[in-house]
Amino acid sequence: MKIAFLADHLSTFKTYKDSTYAMIIEAAARGHEIYAFEQTDMALEQGQVQASASRIILTGAAGNWYRAEAKVAQPLSAFDVVVLRKDPPFDMEYVYATYLLELAEQQGARIVNRPGAVRDHNEKLAIAQFPQFLAPTLVSADMARLRAFHAEHQDIILKPLDGMGGTGVFRVRDDGLNLGAILETLTHHGSVTIMAQRYIPEIAKGDKRILLIGGEVVPYCLARIPQAGEVRGNLAAGGTGVAQPLSARDLEIAQTLAPVLSQRGLLLVGLDVIGDYLTEVNVTSPTCFQEIRQQTGFKVGGMFIDALEKQRN
Ligand SMILES: Nc1ncnc2c1ncn2[C@@H]1O[C@H](COP(=O)(O)OP(=O)(O)O)[C@@H](O)[C@H]1O
Ligand SMILES: [Mg+2]
Repeated sequence: MKIAFLADHLSTFKTYKDSTYAMIIEAAARGHEIYAFEQTDMALEQGQVQASASRIILTGAAGNWYRAEAKVAQPLSAFDVVVLRKDPPFDMEYVYATYLLELAEQQGARIVNRPGAVRDHNEKLAIAQFPQFLAPTLVSADMARLRAFHAEHQDIILKPLDGMGGTGVFRVRDDGLNLGAILETLTHHGSVTIMAQRYIPEIAKGDKRILLIGGEVVPYCLARIPQAGEVRGNLAAGGTGVAQPLSARDLEIAQTLAPVLSQRGLLLVGLDVIGDYLTEVNVTSPTCFQEIRQQTGFKVGGMFIDALEKQRN
């Protein structure tokens, strides 16, 4: 197959931990042709969505791991599949990219994850579609409502709806010492909608990343354990990743969501589960492939390329 990756520039990849890198290595090893382009390489011209994409040749070396051939402008339907792997922030440029990609779909391109579904699943808000797995949660811009939520639950997390890697995540305990300033900062004095959630103490045992691929559940998750003195388990915030089998509850959550999300064209999803609760549904560019493979031997990249190949057949 000709597989094109829409991602950040390949030269920015940290190859020892990047999940898109794991996908590319696995696809190339199976003899697929690899192409890459960035969001800014796309254009809509005379009604057709095109991308100036480079063919990527792997060198087999550790340092300069690939060689990029000259960019060639071509319609997205020229590839057998386009894999959307652009990292957040999910800003307006990202939204515009999903519009272009949706047009490209209408022109015959096959794109995973489905761009319309990526746009429709805010990674924080999508949990609300599965209320049976939700910790007590309030979404609001109203500081009085948010204060009332704190008064009721005493120990809460406050977070922006467009954060990633733990940015802007605050814990406020029963003393409420910094509540006012945090609310003013996050809501911009009551005009930006944020999420408040009851603090889940099981975060000490990790924020579990559970991967769903092609409607199936990856049998190991990566528990990201916050470092001492930190509430955020994100690897980007210094958390440690420990691969482990799924608990019965993890499996219940994963098996409930897997068919629903795959039906919507979300081939690859990264759920975040803390204790018994679903806290995030990551659809833009889920990671942890390499950490799980390194610690358990389970070939997550292989499972992903299997799913791509199966979809094609
Ligand atoms: N309800 C909660 N209870 C305890 N910790 C939480 C809660 N929500 C978020 N966190 C902590 O904050 C981190 C980041 O939150 P998350 O919602 O996953 O946003 P991000 O998109 O930044 O990863 C989590 O890894 C976890 O450590
Ligand atoms: Mg998260």
